[in-house]
Amino acid sequence: MFLGVVPTECIQQIFKVIDFTKERDVHICCSGTFRLERALQALAPQVKVHSNDVSLFSCVMGGLATGAPIEFTFTGELAGKEKLLEKADPVTRAAAVMVAFEMARYARRNNAYNVKHFDYYDRNFLHYVDRTVPKITRTLEAMEVNSFFPGDWLKHAHSAIERDAMILAFPPFAKGGYEAQFKFLNENVEWDEPAYGLWDPKDLREETRKLERAGARYCMLTDQYWDDHKAVLKFAAGRRLPHYCYAKTKASSFIHKRGRADAFRYKPVDPEKLTAKSKVEILLADGAKMNFIKDVYLAKSITHVSGMVNFLILIDDMLVGSVIYDEGPKTRLAYGDHTVLILSDLAIINEGKLSKFVAMLATSRALVRAMELKLLKRYDQVVTTAFSRNPSSMKYRGVLKKLSRRENDAGDGYVIQYGGPVSDRTPQQLYQDWWKKHGPKKG
Ligand SMILES: C[S@@+](CC[C@H](N)C(=O)[O-])C[C@H]1O[C@@H](n2cnc3c(N)ncnc32)[C@H](O)[C@@H]1O
Repeated sequence: MFLGVVPTECIQQIFKVIDFTKERDVHICCSGTFRLERALQALAPQVKVHSNDVSLFSCVMGGLATGAPIEFTFTGELAGKEKLLEKADPVTRAAAVMVAFEMARYARRNNAYNVKHFDYYDRNFLHYVDRTVPKITRTLEAMEVNSFFPGDWLKHAHSAIERDAMILAFPPFAKGGYEAQFKFLNENVEWDEPAYGLWDPKDLREETRKLERAGARYCMLTDQYWDDHKAVLKFAAGRRLPHYCYAKTKASSFIHKRGRADAFRYKPVDPEKLTAKSKVEILLADGAKMNFIKDVYLAKSITHVSGMVNFLILIDDMLVGSVIYDEGPKTRLAYGDHTVLILSDLAIINEGKLSKFVAMLATSRALVRAMELKLLKRYDQVVTTAFSRNPSSMKYRGVLKKLSRRENDAGDGYVIQYGGPVSDRTPQQLYQDWWKKHGPKKG
């Protein structure tokens, strides 16, 4: 609905190349629909977020998110809505702004289609407001904003420098586009409109240079190609304008993820060669590599299901197993929105209790993080399903808790659900935990 919303894939790219988990404060310039705020809350919840925008909708949301709702009155063509909203709470009033913004698309009433749509919205205003309230509530729940500045984004960017905050800016790509979008609302709503300069994108490069000279750390999203800066990412979809991201951050904060492009040769793990000091490595793997592993090691009776994120687990360069994650409507329904499904956690050998190690590793945030990045959300727990001849699965004992169990349809075994919290222990720490309890020397 809003023009210029950051595409989800582009947000994913930003979070892959810039490590916000090392930032304390971030100034988001031109928050719009607060998508970057929501991603930050999910992926770097320690960050204090300072938002900014000038539009009525964003200022209303910013006010709600910071516990200081702003005052506004529908007037002119929308004056009648005040009576309808007499007893409405601030969230319902925010929903009303959103509906009025949608109506604005037809407000010119320059053809029969627009007239019909505008009238329909007008007559069914409260119905649309009621439908919009849950959206607003969800958005507010998903964003934690520490402060909101209703004013010019350049001012907000410069004030970040004083605070040693990172700037994450997504200023408009075109001059006057937002003003045209919000014209109807601004003409028919009375509110304390912030003063700001009409943004002209041709100034972006010079303004970015000024920020740099002032010592800013920034991440700037734009459709402009700059030959004197290397973009840290480019996002291009079809014929739409590409998005480039230029950044200057703490040197350590760049993560370069490279997929292994070499042919899939591997050394299978030899438990005798493991030591207390062995090094664990987790590698993101593509579907084809996973299929190969599954074909070799999974029981032929198991139907292979592909997941959203796959990992190969290596210890001292020897392949130990794999972990596959997914998220499905069933998992969400049964365990809530912050639960990730371990579709498979496989050890390539039965000896040495390595399957327990792979199960432990599957709970680690270091792996779950890839799913969080993919779906832009935070996971608190993992669940998995075990198919076992016995009433409980040895591999999960002491690692996950039994959540439910039923006999399988054939009556010769059990389908058991296991779950537990996502662990903040790193793969190497989990290896040490495993080694102490189950390492080969322990028999
Ligand atoms: C490209 S959008 C940002 C979109 C947002 N990041 C999102 O994904 O929803 C631009 C936003 O900049 C705001 N804006 C336009 N001129 C501005 C200015 N001078 N200062 C601050 N915000 C401005 C508009 O109201 C609009 O919400």
